[in-house]
Amino acid sequence: YPEMAKLAGAIPKIVFAGDDQGFKVTPEQIEDALTPATKLLILNSPSNPTGCLYDRAEMEAIMELAIRKNILVMSDEIYEYLLYDDSVHHRPASFCREAQDRVITVSGFSKTFSMTGWRLGTLVANPTIGKAVANLQSQTSSNATTFAQYGALAAVQNWEDSMKAVNEMLVHFDRRRLLLLDGLNAISGIECLRSQGAFYLFPKVSFFGLSSEEFSGQLLEQEKVAVVSGHAFGADGYIRLSYATSDEIIQKGLSRLEEFCSNL
Ligand SMILES: Cc1ncc(COP(=O)(O)O)c(C=O)c1O
Repeated sequence: YPEMAKLAGAIPKIVFAGDDQGFKVTPEQIEDALTPATKLLILNSPSNPTGCLYDRAEMEAIMELAIRKNILVMSDEIYEYLLYDDSVHHRPASFCREAQDRVITVSGFSKTFSMTGWRLGTLVANPTIGKAVANLQSQTSSNATTFAQYGALAAVQNWEDSMKAVNEMLVHFDRRRLLLLDGLNAISGIECLRSQGAFYLFPKVSFFGLSSEEFSGQLLEQEKVAVVSGHAFGADGYIRLSYATSDEIIQKGLSRLEEFCSNL
C-alpha cells in the first residue's frame, strides 16, 4: 500500500505494531500519526503479513477516531472468510451510518475462492467515491477478465455450496497453520505469535542478528526456502511464511529452516 499511496500523489505514514502488541495498532498511535493533511486510513484485518485480527472493540475504537477526525477508512477485508479458533471478523462499515459513509470496503475473490492471479475484486463505498473509483478504473484497467467474472458469479450464486467448500479448505489451512506455528516455535531463536486469520505466520527472527533481507536472502541461497522479508512490510526483524501449501512442503521447509538457524 505505501507504493500505491505514492503513486496516487499521497505521502504514506506507517503506524507500526510489533508482536508485543499483537501486530495491532491502537487509536492513540494512529492519532499521533495524523496531520492536517491526513485523508485516508488503510486497515487490513485479517492481516497480510501477520494473520492478526482486530476484535470488535478495537475496530470500533479506531472507527470512533476516524469519525471524530473526519478521515476516510479503507478496510481491506480480503481474508474475511479465512478465520481460525472461532474468531469473528467485524466489518467497520457495518458499525453505524457514519461509519458506512466513510468506510471504503475492499475485498476480492483470490483468497476465499482460490482465484489467485485472476485479479477480481470488489469495492463498496458511498456513491460519490464509488463513482469516482469506477471512472478511474474504466480509464486504467478497463474491466475484469470475463472468465474470472463467471467464476465469481458461480461462487456467489451458490453461496451455501461455496461456503461448504471454503470450510473444508479451512480444515486443511488450520492444520497447516498449527503445524507451521509449532514447528517455528520449536526452533531455538524463533518466536511466533498464533495468527487468527489469512494463511500467513510472521515470526520474529531478530535474535540471529541479521536483517530480514539478509536472513531471507541467505535462507533462499543456502536452503532453497523462500520467505518474504519483513522489510517488505516495514517490519525488519520478521519474516513472512505462507502455509497455503502442502503439509509435506511445510515440514520440509521447517527442517531446512532449522538447519539454517542452527548454523547461524
Ligand atoms: C491484504 C491483501 N489485499 C489485497 C490483495 C490482492 O489480492 P489479488 O490481487 O489477488 O486480488 C492481497 C494479495 O496478496 C492481500 O494480501
